[in-house]
Amino acid sequence: MNRTFSPFAIAFTERLCYYINKYYRTEFARVRPEQEGERIEHCIFVYYLSILMPSHKDFFMKRLIDKLAATQTLEKEELLYLLLNYDDNGSEYLFARARDVAKQHFGDQIYLRGLIELSNYCKCDCLYCGIRRSNKNAERYRLTPEEVLDCCEIGHKLGFRTFVLQGGEDRHFSDDIIVSMVESIKSAYPDSAITLSLGEKSKDSYQRYFNAGADRYLLRHETADPIHYARLHPKSQTLQNRMKCLYDLKSIGYQVGTGFMVGSPYQTLENLVSDLLFIREFQPHMVGVGPFLPHHDTPFGHHAKGSMELTLLMIAILRLMIPNLLIPSTTALGTIHCTGREQGILAGANVIMPNLSPTTVRKKYLLYDNKISTGQEAAEGVIDLRNRMQTLGYRIPVSRGDYRPVHQHGNTRHLSPSLYPPIERSTSHVQSSI
Ligand code: 5AD
Repeated sequence: MNRTFSPFAIAFTERLCYYINKYYRTEFARVRPEQEGERIEHCIFVYYLSILMPSHKDFFMKRLIDKLAATQTLEKEELLYLLLNYDDNGSEYLFARARDVAKQHFGDQIYLRGLIELSNYCKCDCLYCGIRRSNKNAERYRLTPEEVLDCCEIGHKLGFRTFVLQGGEDRHFSDDIIVSMVESIKSAYPDSAITLSLGEKSKDSYQRYFNAGADRYLLRHETADPIHYARLHPKSQTLQNRMKCLYDLKSIGYQVGTGFMVGSPYQTLENLVSDLLFIREFQPHMVGVGPFLPHHDTPFGHHAKGSMELTLLMIAILRLMIPNLLIPSTTALGTIHCTGREQGILAGANVIMPNLSPTTVRKKYLLYDNKISTGQEAAEGVIDLRNRMQTLGYRIPVSRGDYRPVHQHGNTRHLSPSLYPPIERSTSHVQSSI
């Protein structure tokens, strides 16, 4: 531990920190001027730690990962330290621990969900999304209830026992239509779960879908920071309402999924820490995380894509935070890298969601550019995925793959002492490219 530094090394480090601070000062002024000072304070702390003690970095990382695995939680500063300092060694160790935890809870099983993309009409105008209302170039479509049932029939024969009805917020799909669709799928396939992912609705609507037989609901919170949320959405869409929806869904009794993008424009590492802390607080049953990918017909078309490595890190941290969480290895991961979905599984994800939509519409549900769509029919797609999972040592059961509560060993609220002294507030900018 006792190291002496040459005057040159100290002068060099100070200079480096000066430039880092200068960089963050500029970056931060753009984001949230009122907290500039605090951000710099944090940067000095963490960067001195990692720069002055490079030989101790692996030690700090490993200790933090062990603490996370043991207590299912970390302090905010510790999470930031992980995100700022991960490297190949740290990630490998984290992924291995996350895989072990996934194996303890799910064995060698990867759950399957059949994604049916109902409609790409959307009344929302999320700045990142390719099917946003303002995108006049999007070729719009909606499936009929009969087409949806056909998808389920094909899926059920292939061993799917969860159908995910996902779509833009399409006014055409009234509550009555959704209720009747849920009822007919449920009566045709009573052994299957229905997941809805249809955006923000009133509590009454959510209740009606639930009464009709819907089991689960996916609604990503996108970012847990209201200021960041406001930069990604028009004024009419607020984080407050998003959160209200999530809490409504939970109180009704749904298995609830939330999630966020990694590397969305203006995102900071502190935002990602807020996402993790929100998830720990909310305790959802499922969390979807994928890299942000630009769509050329959106205002964010020129922004850099998110980082696959950071996305994998988030998956692994989430696995350790909530061991029995259902975590899909997302399409966006599969899009950013040809083995992205496999890497997601190896970082602790345990769900895959192949597309069951008719091949004719798949190319139209374009949330971002180059979304993977092999053009394979559902059957070929599933065989392909089964093989890919088998190669990794996993298998896909014919099962609904429900969330299963676990008896919490140890009190997750009972935190062991932090490795670092508390810092009031801190922020750092996300490296948003791979
Ligand atoms: N890049 C990555 N993910 C996106 N989503 C929407 N647009 C993009 C994009 N450009 C995600 C959002 C949404 C989910 C259905 O897809 O997180 O909740």
